[in-house]
Amino acid sequence: MKIDEIKTKDLQVKKFIEEKIREISSVVGDGIAINALSGGVDSSAVTMLAHKALGDRLKTYFIENGLMRQDEPQRIVSLFKNMGVPVEIIDAREQFFNALKGVTDPEEKREAITQAFYKDVFGKLVKESGAKYLLQGTNYTDVEETLAGVKRQHNILEQLGIDTQEMFGYKVIEPVIQLRKTGVRKLAEALGLPKEIYDRPPFPGPALSARVIREVTPERVETVRKATKIVEEELCKTGAFQYMAILHNDKVTGVRGGKRDFGLQIEVRCWESKDALVGSPTRLSYEILDRLAERITQEVPGVVSVTYNITKKPPSTIEAV
Ligand code: XMP
Repeated sequence: MKIDEIKTKDLQVKKFIEEKIREISSVVGDGIAINALSGGVDSSAVTMLAHKALGDRLKTYFIENGLMRQDEPQRIVSLFKNMGVPVEIIDAREQFFNALKGVTDPEEKREAITQAFYKDVFGKLVKESGAKYLLQGTNYTDVEETLAGVKRQHNILEQLGIDTQEMFGYKVIEPVIQLRKTGVRKLAEALGLPKEIYDRPPFPGPALSARVIREVTPERVETVRKATKIVEEELCKTGAFQYMAILHNDKVTGVRGGKRDFGLQIEVRCWESKDALVGSPTRLSYEILDRLAERITQEVPGVVSVTYNITKKPPSTIEAV
């Protein structure tokens, strides 16, 4: 499938909004569409666009998959509620953790999440709601990286030749597929979303499961969730492109209270990048690094080691999984 990129500098945002609203209305007709809001800039922009196009014929769900950052579901749902967009939280933690049980390979993790999301959770919601369409925030870089074989983004289906109608029983509409992240941010701002949304650092669709090396269990996600909160608190003022905590699989020897403590390792990454295609580590001050190490080992149970990644992309990728 050929997709024509709209470069951010060429994006006429008002015209784009009008066109997409028309397109969504005409495709969905008088039917119902559903979409999943994750709170990221892509799905937030799509939610706003589709809300403007369909009003209460859009059913927006926040899928609580157990892999989100702390307090994220409630925060995002109340933010959208204040803008007049109703969002329902679906508790799907069990389905996702079951799907991830015993899965260690990064691509298999993405596949497990894809299946849990599109088939188990969404398949059921679509049936219950009578919707024939799913709107989602796939962007141009997602498609490009997947087709280039760099990394299978979890939300790429039709570009890989997957017939969603046949496989899951609904069609997918992707209104921002021609835009890169900077274009989506411009769109989100023009749609009236607050700065905390349109300026948000990117966060992967597979959420914290992309930050756990090897098996993803509720306990391991809880560890990385606590570390993520600290990393975000400490690094949000750096203006960096993206920053994260990663839980390693191997344990290392440490010492606590004069005793050997065989414990967990957290890796911190902080990136300078424009489009996530290439990147380099932020030159954080030693003072910041010191505070990160101090807080993570004090506040996250079981962690005895904190490292900072100093590799560029390529050959590294932004996420470790
Ligand atoms: P990588 O790790 O490939 O990441 O250098 C590039 C950008 O994409 C985000 N990312 C994902 N986003 N689904 C997503 O929606 C995914 O499976 C996924 N993997 C990586 C990553 O956070 C970075 O901004």
